Amino acid sequence: MIIDGQTKVYGIFGYPVKHSKSPTFQTAAFQHLGINAVYVPFEVNPENLQKAVESLKILKISGVNITIPHKENVIQYVNEISEEVKIIKAANTVKNIDGYLVAYNTDWYGFIEGLKEINPDLENKKVLVIGAGGSSRAVVYGLLKENVDKIYISNRTVEKAIKLLNDYLEHFKIVDKIIKPIHLSEIPDIINDVDIIVNTTSIGLNDEDFPLFDYNFINPKHTVVDIIYKETKLLKVAKEKGCKYQNGYPMLIYQGAKSFEIWTNQKAPIEIMKKSIGLHF
Ligand code: ATR
Repeated sequence: MIIDGQTKVYGIFGYPVKHSKSPTFQTAAFQHLGINAVYVPFEVNPENLQKAVESLKILKISGVNITIPHKENVIQYVNEISEEVKIIKAANTVKNIDGYLVAYNTDWYGFIEGLKEINPDLENKKVLVIGAGGSSRAVVYGLLKENVDKIYISNRTVEKAIKLLNDYLEHFKIVDKIIKPIHLSEIPDIINDVDIIVNTTSIGLNDEDFPLFDYNFINPKHTVVDIIYKETKLLKVAKEKGCKYQNGYPMLIYQGAKSFEIWTNQKAPIEIMKKSIGLHF
């Protein structure tokens, strides 16, 4: 790679950002296509987010991904937000168009494209989504776009799942017939009714985390997705039971691929991106 006076700069804002795999696979994509660009990690302390976003204009940084904990807060500092960001209320991608910053969300797309690798036809499926935070909002948005039949949103704090439903009612007309907010304790009552189970909470990140529900209720017909980047206890049980299952890496790759396409208007080299972080799926 030759860096010169015309090299474009892309990056990721996160806190922490040390463990991010985005610099590896985004750089691999630039190199593969011969694009004169680099992609670097920026550790942005939450109190400096506004300044960091303003610096994109001053330093003429072409685009950034936004990750935890900035996805919601970044919205107030850009010039324009795309339609999906208005609904999801979180952004993970910013494009700098000659000093005019536009924010997008590609997490929903990443989730759906990843899921389609193991479950291509989502129409009329019934889904249990665990969690009602920012990640859940993106996952639910994607599932609604795919015309699923039913989404149970199960959360420790059921009021947050109800709020998600009410927010989405403003944008998707018949969503009250599709989304049903439930408490975690109600999962056993509905689990036999669903085809797909998705964990969007951080439970499972640590091996000693208590289970979200009794995983003995999982049966081989379930497709199980955990958006955490490892084989969690939930996924281990899914594997043992013979289910189709997936961790968070496919979602990561596909959200990044969509960001890449937004920035460059070129098709992302998915296989190169996967290979660069040692993935084969
Ligand atoms: P993200 O943007 O990653 O979705 P978030 O918006 O902070 O993160 O949401 C975290 C989700 O994980 C929430 O659904 C949260 O449940 P509550 O709304 O009840 O807080 C869930 N979560 C976090 N810790 C949890 C725990 N110990 N048990 C159950 N759910 C938990």
